[in-house]
Amino acid sequence: MEKIRLRVKKIPRVEIGHLWIFSNELETVPKLEPGSIVEVLTSEGKSLGLAFYNPHSLIALRLLKLTIVDDVLRSIKYRILRAKLLREKIFPNENCYRLVYAESDCLPGLIIDRFADYFVVQVNSAGMEKFIDTIPKIITELYPNCKGIIAKNVTHFRKLEGLENYEKVLFGQIPEEVVVTESGVKYILNFYQAQKTGLFLDQKLNKRFIRRISSNLKVLDCYSNFGGFGLNAALGGAREVTLVDISDTALGYARRNFELNGLKNGNFVCMDALDFLRQEFNQNRKYDLVVLDPPSFTKSKKNVQSAIAGYHQINKFAMRIISDNGFLATASCSMHIDEPTFLHIIEEVAYSQRITLKLIYRGGQAPDHPILLSMPETRYLKFFVFQISKG
Ligand SMILES: C[S@@+](CC[C@H](N)C(=O)[O-])C[C@H]1O[C@@H](n2cnc3c(N)ncnc32)[C@H](O)[C@@H]1O
Repeated sequence: MEKIRLRVKKIPRVEIGHLWIFSNELETVPKLEPGSIVEVLTSEGKSLGLAFYNPHSLIALRLLKLTIVDDVLRSIKYRILRAKLLREKIFPNENCYRLVYAESDCLPGLIIDRFADYFVVQVNSAGMEKFIDTIPKIITELYPNCKGIIAKNVTHFRKLEGLENYEKVLFGQIPEEVVVTESGVKYILNFYQAQKTGLFLDQKLNKRFIRRISSNLKVLDCYSNFGGFGLNAALGGAREVTLVDISDTALGYARRNFELNGLKNGNFVCMDALDFLRQEFNQNRKYDLVVLDPPSFTKSKKNVQSAIAGYHQINKFAMRIISDNGFLATASCSMHIDEPTFLHIIEEVAYSQRITLKLIYRGGQAPDHPILLSMPETRYLKFFVFQISKG
């Protein structure tokens, strides 16, 4: 097995459990095949165990926390089993959850989402790509009722790894549409058309909170996608729910999901959410609860300032159209905007609008997306609900 040496004796980040080593931290960047398994040595020759290596990626090494005598395939199988047991513990009554969350489950670059008897796999590392044919075997062993597995390998992370994007059925059949139930809400899922892997499972607990507070409220769900928050609000007894998304396809599913759940009080608007918020402000329309769940406003550190400006804008108009004592539920899934920064933006906006905010719920990604404390990159979702006072 090839060995790769670091330039230094130790990397403090790695010492405390971070799993990435960057290309500028290597003594040399050998020309090995992307995804090769190598042994990592410090400059003094101390072994840091095995890693996936990719000479084309800034993340040159992804540590596996294995020694040279360990069997990598057996460890992958064991870790997927361990991930399954954790999800069953967290959500004993659910069959839609993130089964594997990459580095957090010590499976670098591997994401697996379960939607009842269907599974969506996403691979974001060259090392894991080498196991793409084995992963379906592991899943079907663990879930004998599995009917279909699809790889939705279409992400910007793959480009960074020098991997091709593709979608492919890896096992069984993936019908055009299936109906799944998440937190008691029925969804029509089209794996081929869905963004990301299907549903936004990371908001599971946050959606449940919205259901809890929605009774009798007039609700606006901005960036609604298939209707996750809006459906929960309606099932929680909202008087009226308006869902806004720029994607006609996503809204079409949101509308059908309302019907499927026997809900009749949805309005569906295909429009840029900021334009819609501005329009509602100009027409002096008010809502009791506004949910903002935009896509990531920045995928890199260099665009943080424009992302901050984006959050400012949407939160400002949302606050303006929320009635006194109403609620703002606001999320950010941008990994490069940390929680203090996001809260600071909201505070600034509230101050500029002469609004008092009472924080009543502080959420994040659901626990099937565990956070590795030693890897800040695994923590990305911020979600807050405030009660607003204008008096
Ligand atoms: C993070 S997802 C929202 C997930 C959704 N809240 C849920 O829980 O299922 C972001 C959504 O924003 C939509 N979107 C992106 N840009 C938009 C824009 N400028 N205006 C409105 N919607 C937009 C996307 O189509 C996508 O459905």
